[in-house]
Amino acid sequence: MAKFSDEGRDSFTSKFGIVCAAAGSAIGLGNIWRFPYVVGDSGGGAFLLIYLGFIVLLGIPVMLSEFIIGRRGQRNALGSFKRLAPGKSWYLVGVMGIVAAFMILAFYSTIAGWTLHYVIQSFANSFAGKTSAEINQFFESFHTRALMPLLWQLIFMSMTAWIIFSGVKKGIEKYTKVLMPFLVLLLVIMAIRSVTLPGAKDGLLFLFKPDFSAVDSGVLLAALGQAFFSLSIGMGALITYGSYIRKHNNLGNISVQVSLADTMIATLAGVAIFPAVFAFGLDPAEGPGLIFTVLPNIFQQMPGGYFFSITFFVLLAIAALTSSISILEVVVAYLTEELNLTRRKATLMAIIAAAFVGVFCTLSFGTLKNVTIKELHIFGMLDFTASNLLLPLGGLLIVIFVGWYMKSSDVKDELSNKGVLKVKLFDILMFILKFIAPLAIAIVLFDSLGII
Ligand code: PFF
Repeated sequence: MAKFSDEGRDSFTSKFGIVCAAAGSAIGLGNIWRFPYVVGDSGGGAFLLIYLGFIVLLGIPVMLSEFIIGRRGQRNALGSFKRLAPGKSWYLVGVMGIVAAFMILAFYSTIAGWTLHYVIQSFANSFAGKTSAEINQFFESFHTRALMPLLWQLIFMSMTAWIIFSGVKKGIEKYTKVLMPFLVLLLVIMAIRSVTLPGAKDGLLFLFKPDFSAVDSGVLLAALGQAFFSLSIGMGALITYGSYIRKHNNLGNISVQVSLADTMIATLAGVAIFPAVFAFGLDPAEGPGLIFTVLPNIFQQMPGGYFFSITFFVLLAIAALTSSISILEVVVAYLTEELNLTRRKATLMAIIAAAFVGVFCTLSFGTLKNVTIKELHIFGMLDFTASNLLLPLGGLLIVIFVGWYMKSSDVKDELSNKGVLKVKLFDILMFILKFIAPLAIAIVLFDSLGII
């Protein structure tokens, strides 16, 4: 990101750098923490199939649309809309994205904080010799407390702010290029251990055998929200990153590659988690704590588990960090470009505001657990509102913008890099952007809200 485009903006220097940054944003806690627990909550196999369908039919088109808007607009999420649709209200999609970014950062950092705590506990070998019930108990007593989880959350937020502030994203890219393949390798090893545990078969059946009788509009919405959350789409993170992509890179290829990598890792995490859930007699629907109670059990059953546990939680924390920087960047790019704040001021303001909300998220597992709206505590409420409502709504408006508002010749221009590349399947893409994606998102979203 050292080179500057003609407007003096940062831009990614290589195709590989872009794929790494976008994949770094997509691959994170969403794949390894959120995906398994949402699958568990939503009944397993049928959810997985619907999720995969949503990734292909809706996820890739929305991701591509965000890249198109960002690269054409050459601005942050809000500014790009202002430039491409001057005098119109489309910039409100960017405003919504900024609101979603705050919400996600607030609860994301809670879980990232837990991950950091588990790094230290792995070093200390705290899970050694513990039974499954004791590991559960350990998690229970940790995450319902106030001080430790808050401390870790603030540490994680400071790390995110520091990276955004000091602009060492290039360094991050350099490391993630090497580290993320390690994470995949580790997941493969864990998946092998998990599927060879006695009683693992039930977990594989749970994950891969669809039972459509359990599918209702809530499950559809959960799959939609998870697909959007996992791909980092619907709130302008990839509009912002798209604005740093250089003119000769192939947006179509990048979108497909990033979506494939993201989906592969989520599925792999599922294969690592569910056989173990059943082998250890745990509850697949136990919620946000799922991986923190399952994974230490798997490590206990692995030769070299001590080492694996440390490495895994460190890599997970790094994956979380490369995602959280993309969330914070949405806000910081807006504040610096639209409100002319310095990068330092913008980062500081954004992180303090997010930390303020974040405290309530973390405390909602203990001190504030009785503060609920419709059975959801603050954490659940923010997650639901951002992931299942704001991201799909943002995605809906983004595909409508590219499908209907932008000239199709401009869309083609962006996809083909001004006619240099051959654009395959353009008509099919436009058909999806105009009709299929908006209709499908609208139906799932509004049906589950009881609006239609
Ligand atoms: N996609 C990230 C993950 O799976 O962990 C989370 C995320 C990042 C969501 C950026 C939204 C976003 F804009």
